[in-house]
Amino acid sequence: MKKVIVTGGSGFIGRNLVQKLLKNKFFVINIDKLTYASRNVKLKLKNKNYLFFRKDINNKKFINSIFNKYKPDLLINVAAESHVDNSIFSSKEFIITNILGTSNLLNCSKEYLEKNISKKKKFIFFQISTDEVYGDIKKGIKSRENDILNPSSPYSSSKASADLLVTSWSRTYDINYIITRSSNNYGPFQHKEKLIPVVIKSILNKKKIPIYGNGNQTREWIYVEDNVDAIFKIIKSGKKNSVYNIGSNIFKKNIDLVKLICKLFDQTTTSKNSKKYISYVLDRKGHDKRYALNISKIKKKIKWKPKTQFSKGIKKTIEWYLKHKSIFN
Ligand SMILES: NC(=O)c1ccc[n+]([C@@H]2O[C@H](COP(=O)([O-])OP(=O)(O)OC[C@H]3O[C@@H](n4cnc5c(N)ncnc54)[C@H](O)[C@@H]3O)[C@@H](O)[C@H]2O)c1
Repeated sequence: MKKVIVTGGSGFIGRNLVQKLLKNKFFVINIDKLTYASRNVKLKLKNKNYLFFRKDINNKKFINSIFNKYKPDLLINVAAESHVDNSIFSSKEFIITNILGTSNLLNCSKEYLEKNISKKKKFIFFQISTDEVYGDIKKGIKSRENDILNPSSPYSSSKASADLLVTSWSRTYDINYIITRSSNNYGPFQHKEKLIPVVIKSILNKKKIPIYGNGNQTREWIYVEDNVDAIFKIIKSGKKNSVYNIGSNIFKKNIDLVKLICKLFDQTTTSKNSKKYISYVLDRKGHDKRYALNISKIKKKIKWKPKTQFSKGIKKTIEWYLKHKSIFN
């Protein structure tokens, strides 16, 4: 049975990943600080192959003790401060968790592998990254894995820094790595601060739906289970020391996405003319206009492609939030 440390396993993507790994007979050690991002949507799992520790990824003594006790084959670093707006307001926590936290996990991995040389060949440091590290992408272009990193926000630059730390630790200390860079995820359990839950919450509360700038920013939307499926397939058959983009080829301007959610609300709830709540607000500072991933590598090498049609994924997501309104408290 493969033993895996998942950091941030109580967050939006992490919880889906933990469940996928458990279903596939992995032994999972979830290390999560339970920040505001996961506290009101606790992951409660009863499984003999699951352990949870409420700890910070910066806690060197604790991470070392977990490595020494469980001798994992894989560490998947999902933990992060993940909200761009928060990073613009204050970048400190982003630097502490996304950069220093990742470097601490890398150092603990290094010490563990020095003591357990037999694990060195197989062990993988699996870093969960984002399409935002490529920065603003011009129309007609899609980012490839070996493109230069050109992040715009404190969030994306902290994630790009982490990616570079991972590749440099690999080169310098010979630690195997895999990095995945996925596009915007959506689905159940996403924190209420993110765009899709914000729209749903605003309509439910009959409050304004804030749209940054002109709303023409384009994002690529992937259903969270598709991202997790891709990560899982990469764990199984990915090449060591490589990067994989994970995208959906489903591109939506923010304003079109919001109007679509309004329409679905009108069709399926008692809300009428929900788009009347749309309200344009001052644009986000440094706002990237477009992200787009080239996913030919993962399609060709891993034989993975996204499964979820946007129309189905978004309906499932809205239905879930309507059933779990307490997430908005
Ligand atoms: N959500 C997306 O659309 C998206 C897209 C691409 C990449 N990503 C990346 O995927 C990862 C997960 O994103 P998410 O949306 O699930 O985020 P999230 O904010 O929902 O979850 C992050 C989790 O990390 C935990 N955490 C934060 N700081 C920690 C620390 N110091 N020590 C231990 N745990 C800590 C939080 O408690 C939370 O459970 C992040 O690395 C993010 O950059 C997310």
